[in-house]
Amino acid sequence: MSSVFDPAVLVLNREVNTDYLRFLKERDGAADRRAGTLARREAYFAAIDAHPVPYEGPPLEADFRAALGAGASSSSPALALWMAIAASANEGEKYSVERILASRPPQADPEDPMTYIELEELYHTRLLLDAIKTLGVDYAVKAPPLWVRFLASTMIFAPKSIEYMVVFFSEVVGTVLFAALARKARELVDPATATGGRIVSLIEEILVDEVGHVAFARAQLGPVRLWIAKQTVRALAGAMYRATPAIRALFDTEALAEAAINLDLSTLPAHIRARAFMVEAPVATGLAPA
Ligand SMILES: [Fe+2]
Ligand SMILES: [Fe+2]
Repeated sequence: MSSVFDPAVLVLNREVNTDYLRFLKERDGAADRRAGTLARREAYFAAIDAHPVPYEGPPLEADFRAALGAGASSSSPALALWMAIAASANEGEKYSVERILASRPPQADPEDPMTYIELEELYHTRLLLDAIKTLGVDYAVKAPPLWVRFLASTMIFAPKSIEYMVVFFSEVVGTVLFAALARKARELVDPATATGGRIVSLIEEILVDEVGHVAFARAQLGPVRLWIAKQTVRALAGAMYRATPAIRALFDTEALAEAAINLDLSTLPAHIRARAFMVEAPVATGLAPA
């Protein structure tokens, strides 16, 4: 296919919205905004809670706590760095969604994909914390840096057209990081074991969601906002990845930034694409919604 920023690829947002809503209802089940739950996600976590898996590797807590801050280095255990990245990867989205949910009435529109997306983001925090817990550490997510909180707070008052552009930008940066974390998880743990399989499943559930978030947000943008989003990724993605010491220690941040600028969802692993919402056969044309 092509980069998500390619303006020559027309996606019909009405069709994407209808298809994506059908996909979300199937994947998530009924959404309850007041309770902050999605029926099928609750079932997923109930199954996880009913079958805890033992962690039998070396203790990671001290290295993990060090890797959360300036103690992260390329000599830290890779799994501790992975956990530190997971611990902060959803700080911004969690904070933004909690602000949004608190600012709007609890009756969500079940026909609006954003209803499901917002709730999925809450589950991402739980998925990440469960992955860390599976590696023997209990952790609670912290508030994100001040500039993220500021951006999230201003978004509540932004018109939809701006909101979708910022959502798209954040989803692209996030998806590249989650794709890297998912790939790395398969290197660091053995997916054939109960513990390794659990960790891979938890991180890949997030990646499957994020692919849909990117595709949906992208479909709401015309060529101008698509271009602005691309310039914003070009300007900020590298700095955003570098801001987390553990990301610098575990990954090549320039390669991550390049992957964000050129994000092509069709290059994700086949087993992820098979489960994710992919916009199939977009029409190549110079026209796109404004
Ligand atoms: Fe997320
Ligand atoms: Fe997302």
